[in-house]
Amino acid sequence: MDIKITKTTTPKEKPDSSVLGFGKYFTDHMFMMDYSRDKGWYNARIVPFENISLHPASTVLHYGSEIFEGLKAYRRKDGEVQLFRPIENIRRMNTSADRLCLPQIPEEDALTALTTFVATEKDWTPAAEGTSLYLRPFMYGNDETLGVHAVHNATFVIIASPVGSYYKEGINPVKIMIEDQDVRAVRGGTGYAKCGGNYAASNRAGERAEKQGYSQVLWLDGVERKYIEEVGAMNVMFKIDGKIVTPMLSGSILPGITRKSCIEVLKGKGFTVEERLLSIDELEEALKSGKLEEAWGCGTAAVVSPIGELCYKGEKFTINGGKIGEVTQSLYDTLTGIQWGKIADTFGWTMPIK
Ligand code: PLP
Ligand code: COI
Repeated sequence: MDIKITKTTTPKEKPDSSVLGFGKYFTDHMFMMDYSRDKGWYNARIVPFENISLHPASTVLHYGSEIFEGLKAYRRKDGEVQLFRPIENIRRMNTSADRLCLPQIPEEDALTALTTFVATEKDWTPAAEGTSLYLRPFMYGNDETLGVHAVHNATFVIIASPVGSYYKEGINPVKIMIEDQDVRAVRGGTGYAKCGGNYAASNRAGERAEKQGYSQVLWLDGVERKYIEEVGAMNVMFKIDGKIVTPMLSGSILPGITRKSCIEVLKGKGFTVEERLLSIDELEEALKSGKLEEAWGCGTAAVVSPIGELCYKGEKFTINGGKIGEVTQSLYDTLTGIQWGKIADTFGWTMPIK
């Protein structure tokens, strides 16, 4: 794949690491590539970061034909920059594309786009503890017609944002509200795809939770509102009576790459990991009997995020005295150790950027 690179003539000043937060600053360039049914993917380019112009009838603006991914480039201790399991994100993006009737991108081309773009923006990868360069690949349909159908024209873009921690709490425990009114997804729907519409539909519950002092909601299944699914931007895991329990990939939750990595790390440490249905009744019983030892969320943006309090139908439960648990901490240390190149990557998950 040929990528035409046009460098900016007005590079921006890079923000100080202390003010980063999440997704507020963007680098100097972006990757773009267009698709049409006739031509396939064409015009791969890296251009100065700029606004995107769309026809007012563009499919994405009316019918939500949009998918995205999220992964990070990490500045290693030795100064090099590396990606974490990028091929997993590319595969998931193609699964999302299939669900939303958007075009898939050959894995090799998507990887070339990603690595060439990160190499261009490498200097933007911050070095301070806990920071990284968040990469946001996304794709949208832009047929210029109001007809409803699978898209014939699309654009694929990658932008990058130097980030600190996703939650203002950092690695400190967050408070999560279990949502019992709205639902996020149903089996057969788009829950397993990373599409913008899933997030748009989840904002109302998120707002309600935030107003009451909670960081995000924990979703229950969309049919019986009985089984634990996932948190707004992360998968969820519990330590119950010595075992790790996490909701199985039922079709309505996102198959997280951090989730998958946590499971592999935990199994390697000798833990029993159960991927299964976990009902709210079982969770409540474990909370009340003290069998729920730890709870944490896991995702690219949030990394491994301890849950210190759960609220369900107005009742509040503190977990592990509101402190980070031993397993959560060790998982965080192992995963971030590999990501930031502080410990050896025995799994072969990292990919250096030249
Ligand atoms: N679940 C949802 C709804 C998400 O938005 C994310 C974030 O990407 C995750 C789970 C975690 O996925 P990953 O670990 O691949 O980032
Ligand atoms: C990620 O962890 O990459 C996410 O996409 C979460 C996000 C919706 C902010």
